Amino acid sequence: MSNKIVVCITGASGAIYGYRLLQVLSSMDFEIDLIVSSSGWVVLKQELDLTKAEILREFPKVRLIPEKDIANPVASGSRLIFYRGVVVAPCSMSTLSHVACGTNQNLIHRVCEVALKERVPLVLLVREAPYSLIHLKNMLEVSQAGAIVMPASPGFYHRPKSLQELVDFVVGKVLDSLRIEHNLYRRWRE
Ligand SMILES: Cc1cc2nc3c(=O)[nH]c(=O)nc-3n(C[C@H](O)[C@H](O)[C@H](O)COP(=O)(O)O)c2cc1C
Repeated sequence: MSNKIVVCITGASGAIYGYRLLQVLSSMDFEIDLIVSSSGWVVLKQELDLTKAEILREFPKVRLIPEKDIANPVASGSRLIFYRGVVVAPCSMSTLSHVACGTNQNLIHRVCEVALKERVPLVLLVREAPYSLIHLKNMLEVSQAGAIVMPASPGFYHRPKSLQELVDFVVGKVLDSLRIEHNLYRRWRE
């Protein structure tokens, strides 16, 4: 199984999910291609006080790809087929909409489109509250096209005691959907 993965962070609330995913995948020695949208950087700063320089310092092995680099190898199916998957965490309603419509305004939209056409696992960790009919229709559209729509909503049956445990539950669910083993949350009856 490939240890290459694309992680995208967009401008939805919940930048901590993308950040934690980077920590976990890095600790598992995944080769990570990271694409952060311009709004994603704004929310990383707003919610976690993290800048591009700090992300690069903390994750020196991560390959940071500019969202405008539409000629990057991951924009091509001939390269993306060798990846374990593409995760957008968190995924804004705007990015969801572009994926649902097949319109490409940046490399994140393109990578998602390629993942769908090549049947590379695509996980969209969507975040908005409440959902409009348009959001729901877009989720149905991408789900029918093969994406996994993951809600950024943790369970509580494992009795979380901290924010970290709530975040790890959701990140664990993302990893589950890619069949990546982890110990981020206690499974039912474990
Ligand atoms: C602090 C902050 C929080 C936001 N939270 C959300 C959110 O939870 N969901 C969402 O769809 N958009 C949210 N937005 C709006 C998106 O950032 C905006 O729609 C943007 O155009 C998304 O672009 P992107 O998908 O290219 O990142 C938020 C914006 C800011 C500044």
